[in-house]
Amino acid sequence: MWSETPDGLSCTYLTTAHRRVAAELLAWMSAAGMTAEIDAVGNVVGRRPGARADAKTVIVGSHYDTVPNAGKYDGRLGILVAMAVAEQLHKSRHALPYHLEIIAFAEEEGVRFAAPYIGSSAVAGRFDQRLLERRDADGFFLRDVMREARLDPDAIPALARRRERLRAYLEVHIEQGPVLLQHDLPLGVVTSIAGNVRYLVALTGTTGHAGTVPMTMRHDAAAAAAEIVLSVERRCAAEPTLVGTVGKLNVPGGAINVIPRRCDLSIDIRADDDATRDAAITDIFADIEAIAGRRGVSVEIKESLRMPAVPCSREIGDHLAAAIERTGQRALRLPSGAGHDAVMFNGLTDIGMLFVRCGNGGISHSPLETVTADDVDIAAHVLLDVLLHLDSDL
Ligand code: HGY
Ligand code: MN
Ligand code: MN
Repeated sequence: MWSETPDGLSCTYLTTAHRRVAAELLAWMSAAGMTAEIDAVGNVVGRRPGARADAKTVIVGSHYDTVPNAGKYDGRLGILVAMAVAEQLHKSRHALPYHLEIIAFAEEEGVRFAAPYIGSSAVAGRFDQRLLERRDADGFFLRDVMREARLDPDAIPALARRRERLRAYLEVHIEQGPVLLQHDLPLGVVTSIAGNVRYLVALTGTTGHAGTVPMTMRHDAAAAAAEIVLSVERRCAAEPTLVGTVGKLNVPGGAINVIPRRCDLSIDIRADDDATRDAAITDIFADIEAIAGRRGVSVEIKESLRMPAVPCSREIGDHLAAAIERTGQRALRLPSGAGHDAVMFNGLTDIGMLFVRCGNGGISHSPLETVTADDVDIAAHVLLDVLLHLDSDL
C-alpha cells in the first residue's frame, strides 16, 4: 500500500505515493486484458472495445486518491471491482454491445488543492481551468505539480467525452454509512447524491499577551471560530437530511501564551435538496456576521465547492435492483450523503451507483473502514450482471 505517511493511508493528488498507485493500476488494467493509459490529469483509463466500432461507451469508475489517514476502500473498492469484472469479460471473451471504459480517477477528495473531482471533471468536460492557479499548503501551483508529474494541463480539454457517445456511468462504492448494516443487506442502489457546498473561512482579530489583556478587551479569532463551529452544528441539527461539518480548524503560528490573531476553518454543508442546504447557509452566514461583529473580528469567506444534489437514473437503478434481486438479496434504495465522481456525469449520461455495506458501524474516512469479501463478491456479480443486461442504446 503506497502512502505519504509511515503509518496509515494518505494518498493525495500527484504525490510520489499517488503516482506509484497510478503505475500499479496501469499494470493491473493491462493484465486484466484492457488497453490502459494514464491521461493528462493522472486518471488511469482501461478500455475494452465493444462489438461495434460505432457503439456508445459505458464508463465504470471511482477514485484512487484518499483523505489523510483514510480507509482502504473509499474509491479504490469501486476500481478493483470494475477491473475484476473487466478481467472476467476478457477471460470469457465476451463482447459487450458497447465500449467499456474503467477509469480510476486521480483526484476526487479535493484534499491537496481544495479542488475535488479534478479527474472526473476533466473526463466530463467540466474541468475549471482556474483550478490550475490553486496552490497546495507548500505553495506549489497545481499547474506546476501536474507538469512535474509529466502531465499536460494543456491537454485536459481533449479528455472531455462527448455526451452523445456515452451510454451510462456506473460506480461501485462503499456506503460510508450505517444504513445497509442496519438493514443487514450487502448492497444498495443509490437514488441521489447529496448537494455539497464548502467554504474556507479566515478570521482575523487582535493578537496580545495571554496574561495581560483583560477578557473584555480581546478580539480573539479562535474564540470567534469556536462560536461559529457551534453555530454550524446547531443549525444543521435542525433538519434530518442536513449535515454540517467543520473539518479543518487552525490557528496559524499559534502559541500557548498568545491570543490568536488568526484562525482558519472549513465549512462543509450538505442536504438531499439544494433549497434546504442553501437556507441553512444563509442562516449560518448571518450568525458568522453577528459573531464577528460582536467580537471585533474580521471575516473572509471563500467558496471552494458548490455541487448540486444529483438524482441517479431510475432506469440504471432498476437494472441494479434487478441484478441484486437475481442474487437472492433485497434491493434497498438509499440516498448518498457522500459526494462521488458520479456527480460530474449528471446531465451528460445516465448515472447508476451501487453501494457496498460498510462494516464497523458504518465508519469511513478512517482506517476502521471495512467491507467483507462476501459482500464484494456479490457486488462484482451484480456489476457483471448489469453490464451483460445493458443494451447499447444505439
Ligand atoms: O466528501 C465526500 O463526500 C467524498 O468523500 N469526497
Ligand atoms: Mn471520500
Ligand atoms: Mn469516495
